[in-house]
Amino acid sequence: MTGALYAVSDLHVSYAENRAVVDGLRPETADDWLIVAGDVGEVFADIERTLRLLRDRFARVVWAPGNHELWTHPNDPVTLRGVARYDALVAMCRELGVLTPEDDYPVWRGAGGPVTVAPLFLLYDYSFRAPGTTTKEESLRAAYDAGVVCTDEMLLHPDPYPDRESWCAARLEQTRLRLEATDPALPTVLASHWPLVRQPTEVLWFPEFAQWCGTDRTADWHVRHRAAVAVYGHLHIPRTTHYDGVRFEEVSLGYPREWRRRGGEPAPMKRILG
Ligand SMILES: [Fe+2]
Ligand SMILES: [Fe+2]
Repeated sequence: MTGALYAVSDLHVSYAENRAVVDGLRPETADDWLIVAGDVGEVFADIERTLRLLRDRFARVVWAPGNHELWTHPNDPVTLRGVARYDALVAMCRELGVLTPEDDYPVWRGAGGPVTVAPLFLLYDYSFRAPGTTTKEESLRAAYDAGVVCTDEMLLHPDPYPDRESWCAARLEQTRLRLEATDPALPTVLASHWPLVRQPTEVLWFPEFAQWCGTDRTADWHVRHRAAVAVYGHLHIPRTTHYDGVRFEEVSLGYPREWRRRGGEPAPMKRILG
């Protein structure tokens, strides 16, 4: 069996330095796959250009959205909001031949396989509350008081849902059914922009930010849905951890100021299997 399954996230191509890093992303063999776990960028045309470039290089590209793709950014001529924007991103990916959370989950049959590769779009529901708070309202207030407010509050519109937690609840229900329908004989690679479990957020410099990072309702999904590996990004803290014996890989590139601080040339593409 040849090839490897790679993953990367948080390419944030609005930064020229990050575009240069993306230009250097290359497969090692003609059989390699790449998971792109969200936050390619926020301008529709930039996301499309980047995914096309990666699709031209890798045997298969599998994408899940991050919060930045879902923003309706004032610099973006595409003014769609919420579900309509997500649907347009999915349609664009299908034009390119990039797989999305709405497509049949592919099976990786290369080295380390076979495994079902499931890109997930789940969002968050403010259940990773700020310390000392017990309701969403208190948690948000703590974030505003600390001056740590995710830009999603201004730019990630939930339309036609009344709020982001309702959109999250709908995504959880749809996705659970999809995962339950996968081949029970195969392990999975679960790839979501937001971590499935809360623990990775415990190292955040500002704990108030955790409320924009996931949902308690996926706390057992890595076990329940047979994950061999759970891939995520969003936190911009690339590392490998294990929960309940399952390997979690945070695969973000992050902002230039973040990867420069880590020193050396960034090599964000992480080998997941193979
Ligand atoms: Fe990011
Ligand atoms: Fe993010």
